[in-house]
Amino acid sequence: MKHDTKIISAGRKKEWTHGAVNPPVQRASTIVFDSVSEMKHAIANRANKTLFYGRRGTSTTFAFSEAMSEIEGGAGCALYPCGTAAITGALLSFLKTGDHLLMVDTAYEPTRDFCNKILRNLGIETTYYDPMIGAGISELIKPNTRVLFLESPGSNTMEVQDVPTLAQVAHQSDIIVMLDNTWGAGVNFKPFDFGVDISIQAATKYIVGHSDAMIGTAVANEQYWPQLREHSYLLGQCVSPDDAYLAMRGLRTLSVRLKQHQASALKVAQWLSEQPEVDKILHPAFSDCPGHQFFKRDFKGSNGLFSFVLNRGNEQQITALLDGMSHFKMGFSWGGFESLILQVNGLDYLRSATTWQAAGPVIRVHIGLEDVADLIDDLRRGLDRLK
Ligand SMILES: Cc1ncc(COP(=O)(O)O)c(C=O)c1O
Repeated sequence: MKHDTKIISAGRKKEWTHGAVNPPVQRASTIVFDSVSEMKHAIANRANKTLFYGRRGTSTTFAFSEAMSEIEGGAGCALYPCGTAAITGALLSFLKTGDHLLMVDTAYEPTRDFCNKILRNLGIETTYYDPMIGAGISELIKPNTRVLFLESPGSNTMEVQDVPTLAQVAHQSDIIVMLDNTWGAGVNFKPFDFGVDISIQAATKYIVGHSDAMIGTAVANEQYWPQLREHSYLLGQCVSPDDAYLAMRGLRTLSVRLKQHQASALKVAQWLSEQPEVDKILHPAFSDCPGHQFFKRDFKGSNGLFSFVLNRGNEQQITALLDGMSHFKMGFSWGGFESLILQVNGLDYLRSATTWQAAGPVIRVHIGLEDVADLIDDLRRGLDRLK
């Protein structure tokens, strides 16, 4: 089955949909049984998409979880109330006191904070590594290294990692490879084809796609699925069926939306690259982006999120740029239909294995589904205000 067809059909078994196109929202804490044998059957199959107790899920969450593992190509998908919970839930499911974690230096800021504030207190040591390290990761592996965590492209600055090489080296030492695949969205990067063991997404972004729900997913391969499922359950992780419904509704148009986000973002990025106020575009499809060769080799496409570096700009000038935008609003959570803009701060102190050097301030944009001419006009007026 081709990928676009799978996006439409995944998770739509009659068992979940009851004959409708979409599965109904099944809300439940208590599941009731009429006989001892019915209850025994539910207990025996409780981890296996069988109605047992609301926290284990209902047909709506079963459908979404099944859809995600079909689309990403894993053995099963654990659901979480947001992407951050998916990241922390996956890590906590496999790390214990005394373990060592290798974390990419360009990780999403709360992922880094979690390592520094919570894992550290649990006696789990984190070493940050350069996203471009490739096979050199072998030098950072210790006897107690348990997880290698990747995020590709990196948050805000978009370095693309050599995932297959990193995974191959990690597997030689039985290290679990986890990837924050939110940018790839399960469409543009197929994690299990490149050696990833657990693929994590903030489905809050492109899967929900409409900026109106938060949800996280972690899809695991056969080897790690039983432990991920049980440990996430023991951590009390579960999602509302209403949010699972919205995520699944968003999923059906994911592929077509991404194509439009990609096309518009590339036009805007190209236009920005020609403006004298812009020093550099940070976008995996641009040839000077670190890891561009891995993007070309491993990704099927891009999306609406990228950054650019200005030549210069003090606080007053950046405020002038940002304050007068018409179509771009300032907001953090990207992946919806709308355009967003913000200044990226803290790149210098948010890194420890690498350093960030740039000509000027970094601006991150999410290119939404508006007409691209309106977006370029908006940015043109912004750059005029900056001047
Ligand atoms: C790359 C990446 N991973 C994870 C997250 C966290 O997602 P959530 O907001 O659903 O916790 C985000 C949110 O911005 C993100 O950009």
